[in-house]
Amino acid sequence: MRKPMIAGNWKMYKTTQEAMNLVNTIKAGVHAISDCDIVVCPPFTALSNVSHLLNGSGIYLGAQNMHFEREGAFTGEISPVMIKDLGCRYVILGHSERRQYFGETDELINKKVKAALAYSLIPIVCVGETLAERESGSAKETVRKQFEGTFKDLTSDQFEKFVIAYEPVWAIGTGKTASPEQAQEMHEFIRDLISKRTNKDISSKIRILYGGSVKPENISGIMAQPDVDGGLVGGACLKGESFIQIIQGTSPVKTK
Ligand code: PGA
Repeated sequence: MRKPMIAGNWKMYKTTQEAMNLVNTIKAGVHAISDCDIVVCPPFTALSNVSHLLNGSGIYLGAQNMHFEREGAFTGEISPVMIKDLGCRYVILGHSERRQYFGETDELINKKVKAALAYSLIPIVCVGETLAERESGSAKETVRKQFEGTFKDLTSDQFEKFVIAYEPVWAIGTGKTASPEQAQEMHEFIRDLISKRTNKDISSKIRILYGGSVKPENISGIMAQPDVDGGLVGGACLKGESFIQIIQGTSPVKTK
């Protein structure tokens, strides 16, 4: 059985005070919900304050990125140990904005995934095709390549420990959502890739989130798909009300 998960990717938004206000609103709105894992991923600068506020709330903390080394002369970077120290349980890796604007390759993301697992962090690993790739009919091929590169050399045991997010690049921040059928088709494809790399039992346990313009209005249609286990939410998680509505729209749909 897969428990639904909604993770909020705050990106480069919110000062410390704004972050604290937002998290207080979220806490008040979701305290009665236990059938959905909730994760908030504020910017690094707000992790410490948000972490204190989340204490005892049942809401998990995540970071949006990290370096793969434990420590070292890497100016401007943040290590797995540092985010763990602040109370992070999750870390988003390989987001398309990291791939697109910061040149992250599958090889680099693979190192980060291995480092996250080594430090007992749960990676939320993002894959997804661009509009050009979808229109040329190579969406699955792109996702397959990202999957193979990003998860290179991982054992079946390690596979069980992470979360995958399918985020079609053309749907991120654009207001265009993949249709529930498009999401299901790719999620099924990804689950099949996991099954071939590991086995059916493991692939049936891994949560695959959908990301790309998730909103209160479209969450239940997406969640109704058998292979969609939750959402990675960007824009709509920056307002307490819409993030809460997305979570509320998720939990009644199902516990897979
Ligand atoms: P969006 O972003 O919900 O604003 O499309 C999703 C993401 O980038 O994770």
